[in-house]
Parts: sequence; structure tokens; C-alpha cells
Amino acid sequence: MSIDFERLAQRYGTPLYVYDFDRMRESYEKLKEAFAGRKSLIAYAVKANSNLSVIERFANLGAGADCVSIGEVKRALAAGVESYKIIFSGVGKRDDEIAEALREDILMINLESEAEMRHVESVAREMGRVARISIRVNPDVDPKTHPYISTGLHENKFGVEIDMAKRMYIYAKNSAQLEPVGIHFHIGSQLTELEPIREAALIVADLVRSLSAIDIDIRFFDVGGGLGVVYDDEETIEPSDYAEAIGEAIRGLDLTIVCEPGRYLTANAGWLLCKVLYEKRNGDKRFVIVDAAMNDLLRPSLYKAYHRTELLNASQREGELIPADVVGPICESGDWLAKGLPLPPTKSGDLVLIHSAGAYGFSMSGNYNSRNRAAEVACEGGECRLIRERESFEEQIRLEKEYLRKRG
Ligand code: LLP
Repeated sequence: MSIDFERLAQRYGTPLYVYDFDRMRESYEKLKEAFAGRKSLIAYAVKANSNLSVIERFANLGAGADCVSIGEVKRALAAGVESYKIIFSGVGKRDDEIAEALREDILMINLESEAEMRHVESVAREMGRVARISIRVNPDVDPKTHPYISTGLHENKFGVEIDMAKRMYIYAKNSAQLEPVGIHFHIGSQLTELEPIREAALIVADLVRSLSAIDIDIRFFDVGGGLGVVYDDEETIEPSDYAEAIGEAIRGLDLTIVCEPGRYLTANAGWLLCKVLYEKRNGDKRFVIVDAAMNDLLRPSLYKAYHRTELLNASQREGELIPADVVGPICESGDWLAKGLPLPPTKSGDLVLIHSAGAYGFSMSGNYNSRNRAAEVACEGGECRLIRERESFEEQIRLEKEYLRKRG
């Protein structure tokens, strides 16, 4: 659908996150379709965009949820994801989080260490429950992505080595409190090459076969998330090739494929809309200062990530295109959104649109410099609606004010 960003800016103000729910649905359907003919569950990685309406949109399509904190589990439940489609992952789960996950009877808890397994076992024992578990295997495969979002090498903190996983499965099988049902790997995010995924899937499928030989039958083959998207001009993986490679790896095994996409479903269905405040020059360097900043969209500052950025109605603007850095008002040199962007002269109030901001945009936003967090709008079937109000100053300081009041 075509979105009238100008109207949205007038109506809801800026900075504003805008999502195209039709596009999210199309991406979900394309991926689900790729797995047609195989048992599959798409467990949306809530961390990519945790807005309840976004999770609900996927839940209504049949998606499950991949969660990494009890907060995410609760969001998934609140948004209507069925508990038997929820997976709880993450390298450091607290006992209270484990207990809550067991109480909610979710599909499986994904274990990331032997120590964590003992905790899950003892919490389950105290509660008189059996915990369905999967184990995250670190296949030691280089995913060829940004080091900060690479997770499948031994040097990364995620998962356990194959031999350790085997020992853990044997222990779990013999424990009255643990029921091994799944196996998991996730080698990294923004993957644009299929080979590392294929390699990891083959390694992990081999482990499933050797477990089966000792009577440990895995039902869920969880391949994690990581499908890359186009931010600039990169070539990415086709869902059909992805599904094919995984299907090949598990050939002959009776498994439900679980995948946990976040970015693939949301990144290119979201924009950050902001407004020009001022222009300035320092020597030869031109800056366009906008009302969004690194607290709204951290990816450029944190990963030097590229987000296509455009001045709306730029073609109607007279004047030479001169490279400018689009920056926010935060007092950090790292507070930039685009670098060296050829722009015509701008004036206060012009709208700037930052693309591919639907994943790890709002969900990584914060209040640095005491800035209120942006509002979020969803557009679907030609209509747009507010799905998160703009945070107010009162809301931002609510908990601290309470503290002062209690003290005094
Ligand atoms: N499953 C697991 C176990 C994960 O750790 C992640 C992401 C996903 C699924 C979803 O990955 P996706 O399909 O979105 O690539 N903040 C970074 C990305 C961090 C990803 C962390 N884990 C960014 O802005 O690029």
C-alpha cells in the first residue's frame, strides 16, 4: 500500500515509527509457503519488534513466538500467541523466569548451558512439573555477518558444543523433570549466504540422528532466525532455497521445523519518520539535524548499519545536491542516522524517512538524554492507526517520581 507519510506526521507528530502490516503478512506467508509440505512452525522473534499489535498480527496468521525474557513471553501471551507455540531462549534465564515459563506450559525452554539445565530441573522439581526442553547447539560455523550479531562460533557466548549437548540430552532423558523435545541452533543475524546455514543444519541433523540411535527422539528442529534482508543492495537468501536446504539436511527424519525470523518479517515493513530541525556546516562538513536520534534508532551508531534515508518531496526542491550527515540532537558524535547523503537544501519541518526500520528499531530504543520514546503507527488495508502512543515526560519519570514521593 502507499502510505501518506506527510499526513501521518501531521496527525501523530515525529519521530514516528510506521509499519505496513500488509507487508508483514506477505513476508510471513512467503516464508510459511516455502515450508509447505513439511511440518513447520514460524515462531516470530519478538525482540525484533515487540509491539503487542505486531505480535498479534503474526499470531493471527498462526505464528508462534521466540522469546528471550519472561517479559517477551508475557507479551506473546498478551498478544494472543498460544502457549504451546512459545519458545523461551536466552543465555541467562532467572529461576523466577523459568518458573513462570513452566506455569504457562509453553512449548519448550531452550537451554544454553549445563548449569542452566540443572536450574530448570530443580525449579521443575519444586513445582512438580516436567519441563519440555531443547538444547541450543553451537555448531562452530562462521555465519559471515557483523561480529556483533554473529552467534554460531565457539568464541560466541551462545549454545553448547556438540559433545556437551549429547551429554546434556542423556542427562535430560534420565531426569524425571526434563523431557527433551527439541534441538536448536542460531548462527547469527542478517545472514545473506545460505552455505553456513546448510552447514550448521547438517551438523545438527547428524546430532539428531545419533541421539535417535540411543533412543532420544527429538521432535522439533529449531533453526533459529537470521534470514537477511535488503538494506542497501545486498543479495539475500530466498526463503524457498532456505527451506530446501533445511529439508535436505533433515531428510529421513520426522521433525517439525521451527524457525524464528524477526528481521525478515518486519525490517522492510517499517520506517522511522522524522523532521528536519536545522542545517549547519562545520567547515566543509554539512549536517542536517533531525528530531530522531540514536535513542530512537540505535543501529547506525551501534553497528554502523546502513539505513536508506530520503528527504520526502526532494524532487520538488531546487538547488544542488550536497552530501550531508543526517544526525540527531543527542550529545554524542556517534549519534548519526545517515552519512554523506546527497541532499538538496532543506528547511525546518521537512520530512525525512528512514527505511528498513521495522526490526530492531523501536525495540532497541531508549530514553537516553531524557528523550521520550517515539509513537508507533500501523497501516493495513489502506487505514492507519496508532499502536503505541508517544511517551510523555510524565510517563518517562513515573517510577523515579514515585521514589521521591515515598522518600519524602
Ligand atoms: N532466534 C535467536 C535465538 C536469536 O538470537 C535471534 C536474534 C533471532 C532468532 C532473530 O534473528 P533475526 O531473524 O531477526 O535475524 N540488534 C541486532 C540483531 C540482534 C539479533 C539477536 N538475535 C540488529 O539490529 O541487527
